[in-house]
Amino acid sequence: MSNPMSPTHRRGSERRASDRRGSSFSRRDSIDPRKLVPMDKMTHISGTDDFNVVFVGAGNIMFGSEEGPWNHSFRFEHKLGRRLKVVALIDPATERAKEVLRKKCDSFVLSAYENTRIYKNFDDFHKNLPKSLRPRAFVVGSPPMFRGTLQSGRDIEVQILKHYPGVALFIEKPITTGPVEEIEEGYKIAKQIEESKTICSIGYMLRYLKAVQMMKHIIDENNLTVMTTIARYACAYEAIAKPDWWDKSKSAGPVIEQGTHFCDLSRYFGGEVDYSSVVAHSLEWDENAGQLSAMKVDESKIPPENRIPRVTSATWKYDSGAVGTFTHVVALQGTNYSCELEVYADGYCLRLVDPYVQPVLYVRKPGDDHEQTYRFPDDDPFFSEVSNLIDIIEDIEEDPDAACILSNYEDAVKTYELTWAIRKASEKSRAAKLEASRKAT
Ligand SMILES: NC(=O)c1ccc[n+]([C@@H]2O[C@H](COP(=O)([O-])OP(=O)(O)OC[C@H]3O[C@@H](n4cnc5c(N)ncnc54)[C@H](O)[C@@H]3O)[C@@H](O)[C@H]2O)c1
Repeated sequence: MSNPMSPTHRRGSERRASDRRGSSFSRRDSIDPRKLVPMDKMTHISGTDDFNVVFVGAGNIMFGSEEGPWNHSFRFEHKLGRRLKVVALIDPATERAKEVLRKKCDSFVLSAYENTRIYKNFDDFHKNLPKSLRPRAFVVGSPPMFRGTLQSGRDIEVQILKHYPGVALFIEKPITTGPVEEIEEGYKIAKQIEESKTICSIGYMLRYLKAVQMMKHIIDENNLTVMTTIARYACAYEAIAKPDWWDKSKSAGPVIEQGTHFCDLSRYFGGEVDYSSVVAHSLEWDENAGQLSAMKVDESKIPPENRIPRVTSATWKYDSGAVGTFTHVVALQGTNYSCELEVYADGYCLRLVDPYVQPVLYVRKPGDDHEQTYRFPDDDPFFSEVSNLIDIIEDIEEDPDAACILSNYEDAVKTYELTWAIRKASEKSRAAKLEASRKAT
């Protein structure tokens, strides 16, 4: 490998990096699945310089939880080794922040956290972080209702762009969860990110699954045109114990908060959506078929108009003419979700099953009525998304195809807009049905 800091290398790699860093001008939107290296087979990036990171949010996504495999701090530790220095942790719940840091400092990753400063908000951080500790990346995992707009207190992206120009961003999905009218603000943030050429990755980690990249590869290699995407996301509701999740006024509802991953994957394969074509129906909490027996949350404390639907089912047209369908279901108990995505093209069916737990890809091709089965036992899309981001920030790869950001801010706003279109369409059908019943009686 040539010296990554040499001027020649920089000039060449800067050009390549602009293709890879996730701006909408990027030509690449996929990674060779063979380049997605598992965490335990990855060698730490060479070098001895500190890699300063700021974590925004001390919650589950950042430090892990029982509910799932997410835990960004763990992936950063593995990717960067002793170079990782978490210079600040921003969270208004300072006791929670202290507690997670205490656990880290009691473990072998002490060197990354022993000097981490806790701040209760961005202003506090910006005023007090010593200038010598300039971060190389912000990892934003605060609740979406506190970000993704241009409004004071909910505008951390533009605050970072203003005060830390050139510093990379990683932002969790969904980009926000405010009222539907605020979507335009998301597009304005996307424009600022794009114009300032800021490296920015959004946490749609399922795009980094080897299985998903293999699907992309089959489509590209065979020059296929996607005809339809059929997505089903059935969550295990018994394990969801956060009251806010069950309250549309807080979470924006399960399609926007959770189904967003599969709406995003649908767009990843189907392309741009004609939002005006979206039609949808829902099964609501107060309908006979919507009764749930194992909820851990006391739903009577949530105002009736804010309670979430049990089923939401939508169809739409893509600009290409292809048709998308998506169903979100709140019905399963236990802990494992049941999620599947089918992508059809002439002669082909690519069926992704169980992407969260044990991804399996079933492929049917022309000339064979049987499906071939592919399994990916040691795949970790959370690690791949972090690993690709850091490789882009470091810009040390010789191979221009090596790293790629697969979800940029603008693209994530489009997914957010699709999920809102689904929610709106289902509420419209519901209102029409209620009106019809009212007239009938
Ligand atoms: N990609 C995935 O699979 C995945 C999984 C889990 C969570 N997430 C996403 O991560 C985000 C956070 O979810 P979570 O489960 O960690 O939530 P959480 O409630 O466990 O943690 C959020 C933390 O943010 C803090 N916080 C509140 N307001 C803040 C602010 N203005 N600035 C900084 N911190 C603030 C809270 O005090 C809390 O400690 C959400 O967008 C969620 O959708 C994604």
